[in-house]
Amino acid sequence: MSILDQFLMKDEVTVVTGAGGGLGSELVKILAAAEATVVLVDQNIHPIQTLAENLQQQGGQATAYECDVTDPEAIQRLITTIDNDHGRLDVLVNSAGILGADNPMFEVQASDWDAVMNVNLKATWQVSTFVADYMIKNQTAGRIVNISSSLGGRSQLKRIHYATSKAGVEHLTRNMAMELVKSNIRVNCLAPGWLATPMVQDILNGPQGAHWRKAIPMGRAAEPEELTGSLLLLASKASSYMTGSVLRVDGGYAYRGIECDE
Ligand SMILES: NC(=O)c1ccc[n+]([C@@H]2O[C@H](COP(=O)([O-])OP(=O)(O)OC[C@H]3O[C@@H](n4cnc5c(N)ncnc54)[C@H](O)[C@@H]3O)[C@@H](O)[C@H]2O)c1
Repeated sequence: MSILDQFLMKDEVTVVTGAGGGLGSELVKILAAAEATVVLVDQNIHPIQTLAENLQQQGGQATAYECDVTDPEAIQRLITTIDNDHGRLDVLVNSAGILGADNPMFEVQASDWDAVMNVNLKATWQVSTFVADYMIKNQTAGRIVNISSSLGGRSQLKRIHYATSKAGVEHLTRNMAMELVKSNIRVNCLAPGWLATPMVQDILNGPQGAHWRKAIPMGRAAEPEELTGSLLLLASKASSYMTGSVLRVDGGYAYRGIECDE
């Protein structure tokens, strides 16, 4: 195997939850470009069906399945379906996530807190647990990639429940990694920062744009393809000695220091 072949996932089945999302759909395209068979999972079937068809037309292997990742029975049915259709499952990328309402701590609704924790944290644990169980039964040297955020490593006003859920995802990663290491399943976490989606670009180009750009040490949002190297590293065999790691790809956003000379 050549050095670069380590990043390819030919014949490997990779599952991406939240595959219809702005970031989720980019992660799907990156895995498809690495020759993986991509299983797209989302609670909304239409966008992922269209994406899967587009990838198939380009010669890729992609199928779409509707599933609410907060529903344990639906996840079990999903894994049975994947087993019937593909007969294996090598990689799980937990990308389904919600932001919740933009509120200071005194105004966060308990129902919103629960919703954010359920999708971002509890479902990441639940889906990973069922998938890891399947991998262990099939003696798969599997990989799980959890998607956090730079807010998993720093605070941001009015994002208390989202940031807390993502910090939880990072610690969940470390704990799952230790539980699964003997089963030859590696668990790592990718923590992106600002991504150049239309919504983010509107903020960066809007009235508060200069303020936010200054908070990002690199001064700009990432283009989605700038996650290619980090995702392929964590999802592929190229990271064979990594487990429990959190990889931040955020232009330094989580670690910005105080500028004393300003
Ligand atoms: N987009 C960014 O700038 C950014 C930055 C850092 C981290 N992230 C994280 O990356 C991940 C993906 O972000 P995105 O940009 O794709 O978000 P998005 O809001 O565009 O998409 C999220 C997707 O998850 C799906 N989803 C939500 N709840 C679900 C459920 N219960 N069951 C199944 N699917 C469900 C939605 O239908 C949607 O397709 C999230 O975890 C997010 O927190 C995003």
